[in-house]
Amino acid sequence: MKKVCMMSAVATSLAAVLLSACGQHEVSYQKEVLPILKGNCFECHTPGGIGYEKSKLDMSTYDTLMKGTQFGPVVKPGDGLTSVLVMLIENRADSSIHMPYQRNLMSQQNIDTIKTWVNQGAKNN
Ligand code: HEC
Repeated sequence: MKKVCMMSAVATSLAAVLLSACGQHEVSYQKEVLPILKGNCFECHTPGGIGYEKSKLDMSTYDTLMKGTQFGPVVKPGDGLTSVLVMLIENRADSSIHMPYQRNLMSQQNIDTIKTWVNQGAKNN
């Protein structure tokens, strides 16, 4: 019994160290992701915008964002690596369609916030 307690104490402090080392907090969709999308994507990705007209991707609500384009989802919860949305903001697909479209990429901080949110499960939090 004593041994088990010791081990779990070690595991707990190790987890705490890893968490603080990576600076991972849970990213909030409402407080962190939405303002970035509003400032950088809404102009084109709400009904009437050119991004919406071309792809049918409407970012104005969580539900429409998760629904994706006419071809399907662009956010795969838990998988920033293969989520099309993340690929485009990191310019990992064809560079002619990086997002924001025909503009400079966003700051690394904004990109990381969105990517972390996707990796953490793209929750409506
Ligand atoms: C200046 C307008 C504009 C802005 C700003 C913009 N987009 Fe787009 N977006 C487009 C257009 C146009 C398309 C369609 C591109 C095409 O199919 O050639 C598109 C398509 C997309 C697609 C779908 C790609 C696919 O698989 O067909 C995603 C995902 C996307 N945008 C994400 C974003 C994100 C995230 C932002 C904000 C960081 C953003 N866009 C900002 C115009 C914009």
